[in-house]
Amino acid sequence: MDAQAWEKVDRLIDENQNKTIKDYFAEDPDRAGRFSLEAAGWFLDYSKNRIDAAMMKALVKLAEKSDLKNEIEKMFTGRKINATEGRAVLHTALRNIDKNAKIKVDGKDVMPGVRRVLKQMGDFADLVRSGKWKGFTGKRIKYVVNIGIGGSDLGPVMANIALTPYSKRYLKFYFVSNVDSTHLVETLREVKADQTLFIVASKTFTTQETMSNAQAAKSWLVEKLGDKKAVARHFVAVSTAEKEVAAFGIDTKNMFVFWDWVGGRYSLPSAIGLSLMISIGRNNYARFLKGYYRMDRHFRTARFERNMPVVLALLGILYHNGYGAESYCVLPYDQYLSRFPAYLQQMDMESNGKGVTKDGEKVPYTTGPIEWGEPGTNGQHSFYQLIHQGTHLIPCDFIGFSKTHNPVGDLHDKLMANFFAQTEALAFGKTADECRKEGVEERLVPFKTFDGNRPTNTLLADELTPETLGALIALYEHKVFVQGVIWNIYSYDQWGVQLGKVLAKGILDDLTSKKPKLRHDASTNQLIARYRKTLSR
Ligand code: F6P
Repeated sequence: MDAQAWEKVDRLIDENQNKTIKDYFAEDPDRAGRFSLEAAGWFLDYSKNRIDAAMMKALVKLAEKSDLKNEIEKMFTGRKINATEGRAVLHTALRNIDKNAKIKVDGKDVMPGVRRVLKQMGDFADLVRSGKWKGFTGKRIKYVVNIGIGGSDLGPVMANIALTPYSKRYLKFYFVSNVDSTHLVETLREVKADQTLFIVASKTFTTQETMSNAQAAKSWLVEKLGDKKAVARHFVAVSTAEKEVAAFGIDTKNMFVFWDWVGGRYSLPSAIGLSLMISIGRNNYARFLKGYYRMDRHFRTARFERNMPVVLALLGILYHNGYGAESYCVLPYDQYLSRFPAYLQQMDMESNGKGVTKDGEKVPYTTGPIEWGEPGTNGQHSFYQLIHQGTHLIPCDFIGFSKTHNPVGDLHDKLMANFFAQTEALAFGKTADECRKEGVEERLVPFKTFDGNRPTNTLLADELTPETLGALIALYEHKVFVQGVIWNIYSYDQWGVQLGKVLAKGILDDLTSKKPKLRHDASTNQLIARYRKTLSR
């Protein structure tokens, strides 16, 4: 992070420490309009933040000093910005709907491959949706089970739920991720083998959880249908690893490829989105990609002051590094976005949960905020208390839509009344005098007073559509990218996940082999011994 540019931000925080969001609104009647912007079907009001024009200027300077413009171009043009893995970062190519686009990695244009796989996905989705794809016994597919984890699960689940109104309701979708056998077993109870399509989704096709679940599902299917040949009609693969797919026994004709320049947590618009394509069909899927593309274009071309992902990233940095806010909350006021916070957790925390700069030094500031959230209004009756009156500063993003897919009486108005009321209450609070005027008993005044001055962003779109969902995902992807650039960290590797994987493999032998000599720490040895004793091993 550029020290000089940050110093300016820090100085402004100091100078304005006694000013509240309420004061800012009192000073500037045009504030709401000044601190709002529109892009790709989304309206962002960020006026309820601890900012003024001078602060935004200082924050933009911070972005400029990080060479952000250049970094954005490097990403979009396929430079190997994921340096620790020696890879390009090109999820934007997956939704580049410009027919003339050419994007090269190692001198080779990747776009023909992207278009080919999209067509293959569309053709396959048509076959499944129309019932022309028959299972081994000649029945049409009714159940689709995606087996994957992390980026090969969270995106497909989130988007399948989000775009339910566009789905083919005859088809039922399930997502198995956890290596806890309960996840698979309870799913298999819901489906019939002769009508089930398994999508094994794994970039590497070596992930322990996914491969174990896929093997178990394969055995179940073969047992139920009584013939190994059934696998070819009931299993397809989404992966970058052709050899591993073939070794598993899936016909590589039924494999949908993607490439090492697509990070797992950014892979939803690749073939990893196959379950979504089957659910909503190729035309709606094209609309989904168009939404991403519109936000990508906005991000690449808009000046930083008017650039939605850049503005969100800068505000995040202001609170994280300037005010010590360790987490931020994402609060979708739409039941269809119930898994959006979980999806963002991987995107943000696996990307920017890094403690070493690009030069291999320990980062001298904190990075990677903790992201959490739940759909409104459920959160209001649970953790909002802490956000309103607790001692932590938790900036929040409120996400809502003017229209609902399911109008019932005045329920949507009620939902949105809560949506607007919350950001108002968080920003402006309620003073002790206001409480007294309302007749609050003096001894209760301190408990019923709200300090306010709690920052929020409001993201409002007309309706949840494939386009607005695609744009929303791209918005957060680019926000995370900008923060990584400013913090000078590598956002596209995930070495931290590896250690646990390696250790778990070692312990698995200790759990299953005969009388092992346990060589762990005393605590781990004790726990393993107790586990073995319970199982009489
Ligand atoms: O959790 C680590 C990780 O590598 C994620 O980045 C990835 O999304 C997930 O595992 C699944 O990996 P794969 O798609 O290779 O099975």
